[in-house]
Amino acid sequence: MSRIEARTLELRESKVDMGALVRMAAHMNDGLAREAKVEVKIAGPSSLPHFRGDELRLTQVLLNLIGNGLKYTLAGGEVRVGYGLSAAGGIEVTIADTGVGIHSEDIERVQVPFARGDNRSAFVRTKEGLGLGLPLAKAFTEAHGGTLKIASRVGEGTSITLEFPAERIV
Ligand SMILES: Nc1ncnc2c1ncn2[C@@H]1O[C@H](COP(=O)(O)OP(=O)(O)O)[C@@H](O)[C@H]1O
Ligand SMILES: [Mg+2]
Repeated sequence: MSRIEARTLELRESKVDMGALVRMAAHMNDGLAREAKVEVKIAGPSSLPHFRGDELRLTQVLLNLIGNGLKYTLAGGEVRVGYGLSAAGGIEVTIADTGVGIHSEDIERVQVPFARGDNRSAFVRTKEGLGLGLPLAKAFTEAHGGTLKIASRVGEGTSITLEFPAERIV
């Protein structure tokens, strides 16, 4: 986090297959999904152009966001991860859950390091964390020239959209 704040984070770029990264990150969360009794569903084209990115950082982004989806969703819910070309010709990834949601007045705050959401909810109070997953996901996405947007409704779920610019398509 401090390297990002000092703007000295360097990307190790290679050709990235986003579909493969999404499947790998989802698979790495299998244990968590089973424990939470939340299903992860993946949807996206079987072939998508590669893009230039840092595979390790992007994997961390996906792990954090899928992990949050699993962590903040009640048993029986689901996390849907969709990927594909964006309207602007770049790559888009959406991680949407049917979880507890984030209060609108908390959305800005939870993107700041060490901030954690709603302690009004008994379910969320049982969850431990440092409050770094979302800020890191945002910082790593922005380091690729991308954006991270949050849409959420309390009691309905949260949807995080990542968009990476067309200039990164190989
Ligand atoms: N998918 C989600 N659904 C509901 N709340 C979320 C979700 N993702 C993040 N949050 C809220 O944002 C806060 C910050 O997230 P994060 O930085 O990953 O920290 P942590 O998971 O360690 O608490 C969380 O404490 C939680 O309140
Ligand atoms: Mg987290």
